[in-house]
Amino acid sequence: MKDLAHALTAANAAVFSSLGLDAKHAEVRRSDRPDLGEFQCNGALAAAKSAGKKPPEIAQSVAGAWNATELASTPTIAGPGFLNFKVTPQALANRAQVIADDARAGASVVEHPRRVVVDYGGPNVAKGMHVGHLRASIIGESVRRIYRFRGDQVWGDAHFGDWGFQMGLVITALEDELGGFDDRAKLDARLQSLTLEQLEAIYPAYAAKVKGGDIETRDRARKATAALQGGSALHREIWKAMRDVSMAAQKRDFASLGVDFDLWLGESDADPLIPDMVKDLDAKGLLEEDQGARIVRVAGPGETKKKKLEDGTVVEVESPDPLLVVSSEGSAMYGTTDLATIVQRVRDQKPDLILYVVDQRQADHFEQVYRAAAKAGYIAREQLEHVGFGTMNGSDGKPFKTRAGGVLKLNDLIGQAEEKARERLKENEIDADFSKEEFEDVAHKVAIAAIKFADLSNFRGTSYIFDLDRFMSFEGKTGPYLLYQAVRIKSILRKAEEQGVAPGPITVEHEAERALTLALDAFDGALTAAYDKKAPHFLAEHAHTLAQAFSGFFANCPILPSEGAVRASRLALAGAALKQLTLTLDLLGIDVPERM
Ligand code: ARG
Repeated sequence: MKDLAHALTAANAAVFSSLGLDAKHAEVRRSDRPDLGEFQCNGALAAAKSAGKKPPEIAQSVAGAWNATELASTPTIAGPGFLNFKVTPQALANRAQVIADDARAGASVVEHPRRVVVDYGGPNVAKGMHVGHLRASIIGESVRRIYRFRGDQVWGDAHFGDWGFQMGLVITALEDELGGFDDRAKLDARLQSLTLEQLEAIYPAYAAKVKGGDIETRDRARKATAALQGGSALHREIWKAMRDVSMAAQKRDFASLGVDFDLWLGESDADPLIPDMVKDLDAKGLLEEDQGARIVRVAGPGETKKKKLEDGTVVEVESPDPLLVVSSEGSAMYGTTDLATIVQRVRDQKPDLILYVVDQRQADHFEQVYRAAAKAGYIAREQLEHVGFGTMNGSDGKPFKTRAGGVLKLNDLIGQAEEKARERLKENEIDADFSKEEFEDVAHKVAIAAIKFADLSNFRGTSYIFDLDRFMSFEGKTGPYLLYQAVRIKSILRKAEEQGVAPGPITVEHEAERALTLALDAFDGALTAAYDKKAPHFLAEHAHTLAQAFSGFFANCPILPSEGAVRASRLALAGAALKQLTLTLDLLGIDVPERM
């Protein structure tokens, strides 16, 4: 389904061709100066260059050859040769009607659907889920929905951090607590009573110990890690108990956030593939010994960076760093499991593309993994993409911490947001005739909308400051404002139904109807940009523009108080706006309540 910009481009291309100008210069786009014209073509400048003529001359001949059509009036010329187009009311009405009648609200699908794995969330077992995983979950979920909606076959994978040193560390802590694992009954009872809260306390305590220089604990944890990876049944059993406890809690947190996965796999699931992969890397001559460890070099010739040594001297070293595949203790590392996970995905999902929605600070890690995978011939470099994002910061501009200086748990964050949502709903007297259940449901939806929209309305690469008060405002560019607009349309449609008023053919007369239709028409462009750039903020921006256009329409074009064909048309426009707004919010992972 083509939007107005595409239709105008096609018509304009025909005019360009008829004048012997290259049609590639005929592209018509939304104007960033709507006061001058709604759509604009600046190709006369480039066309003039290739024809060796002056831009105004070319613009004039294009305008002269453009017979006003059903689509648009003859373009006007501005500045050095910009062509400004104004769409006819009839063309707008047709477009609005198509959107109103379309279940996809005017959104197109990709021409060639691909198989896409989206790796997001990435919570760690035993570490609990904290706000650092919030952005990965929110952005990843949205990217998954956008890709699926555009027609790709998509698998979202949680890729749990459930392998490696952190697991050995917690096993060691448990060993200390129990005074060894010899007493089987004692161990069983302990594993049965294990909670996530306990794991979340144990892990940081022991991580701090090791960081503080406790070499004995570090070495024992390394041994425990190696034992786990080496297949020790006891270690595996303890590991599984910890993993189950963490997973159950994380599934609950994800559900509460409205985040879901198609594959609930973890780093551990790739572990069985590691021995063969290491053999294969070795057979291909890619493994090198390096101080007892085994590495794959990924830097190309001449790719170096300056590195400062401990004694202050600066040396030139290869860049990116080599990928560490087997540590000197014989353990698999973070990069090893990522590489093996690529082998696993290629085998199981046969993806055309794997997207990694992970903190921008891991960019170097992914560059190493991707290059190693390409070098080994597992997949092409272009099929792997790191969709990085900035941090959520506190008011001090540093990554967000609780007042006590710790990382805020996801569950607590949602709880805080719900509390604020309850307050705001009460302030706005949106609780009058609600049952307790409905009130709680609405508060939860408002809380999630506030958190998600605040995150997704920034380009993902940008860091932003966490400010619950601002996110929760019912005015401005916020999630609650958008929910409020959507719910308002729902209530109008309900009233219309009660009064037996039905929607009818759309006409576009009033300026505000025109603006609303133009907003509706912009959906496909926003969706395509979000898809191409893996950047949901294009859709967040669209949701806001659309809600504002509806607001202007509603203020200027009474719906139910009007009559006959006008009323039926306006009702149809309102219905189209609601459908598209709901769909856009859904692509952002935001649910709209029935009323509020
Ligand atoms: N568990 C990792 C972390 O907390 C994120 C995992 C990201 N995905 C991946 N394939 N490495 O930092």
